[in-house]
Amino acid sequence: MDPISAVLERVLEEVRPLDAGEVANYIPQLATADPDQLALAVVGPRGRVRSVGDDRVQFTIQSISKPFVLALALEERGLDAVLDHVGAEPSGEPFNAISLEDITGRPVNPMVNAGAIATTSLIEGTDVDDRTGRIVATLSAFAGRSLWIDESVYASESATGDRNRALAHLLRSHGIFEGPVDDTVESYFRQCSVLVSVRDLAVMSATLAFGGVNPVTGARVVSETSARHVLSVMSSCGMYDFSGEWLLRVGVPAKSGVSGGLLAVAPSQFGVAAFSPRLDEHGNSVRASAVVRTLSESFGMHLL
Ligand code: DON
Repeated sequence: MDPISAVLERVLEEVRPLDAGEVANYIPQLATADPDQLALAVVGPRGRVRSVGDDRVQFTIQSISKPFVLALALEERGLDAVLDHVGAEPSGEPFNAISLEDITGRPVNPMVNAGAIATTSLIEGTDVDDRTGRIVATLSAFAGRSLWIDESVYASESATGDRNRALAHLLRSHGIFEGPVDDTVESYFRQCSVLVSVRDLAVMSATLAFGGVNPVTGARVVSETSARHVLSVMSSCGMYDFSGEWLLRVGVPAKSGVSGGLLAVAPSQFGVAAFSPRLDEHGNSVRASAVVRTLSESFGMHLL
């Protein structure tokens, strides 16, 4: 084993005993995950992927799709048009809170569900499949391979997605998007149901770290400006109502998802991802957060 993988292995074993938290169960299909799974991956500037633990296990990307769909919206519409529909302020509220500005009805940021649904509504597309196709193609370009949707998680999410539908109707009542609510919400459910491994997430993270160029494929996925805008929003809003303390303690842009994935970015240095299904009260993975925090402390990743 190379020396970097040995360090990753050590970090993983250090956090393995943590057994606090609960697997997400509000989407029935997510509740079936093995809570003990644990994985870590890192990708450097030359695109070498190093991973340890349950690194081949696939899980649904969930909210970690949000920064990448934001990147696509920024590419298609530009920053000002995106900001007309969704803000960039931390909400200090849970991911599924209503979180709309009082007067405009604009969701406060693109990382909470209301803002993510508004962002998805900005993606061009004649129907659900067309819009979802563009989204999955973008996620795939970030990951450097073709990604697929887990149809059973999608079905489970759609069957229990009334709160997200309600948020979308509220947005439409404020004129935040004009298209049909149902189509947009189904595209959002489908983007959340894309299957990834911790290795895919680390490559996606590295693509943001290196200014929008995927270091594995060499392809430019988004502009340097879009990558920087996404990292800025992740820094202030990526960990929901723990975003401030995360920036304080860990100090890197990050995004979590309810499947237990966590993506963190060391700009110009490397992309990191960790995975473990048990979540804390904010909906962030307990062990994946501990892994990234330990790495940040060991490698001096704190940006400030
Ligand atoms: O909107 C939802 O409920 C999910 N599909 C995504 C939420 C999510 O991952 C929140 N993250 N911690």
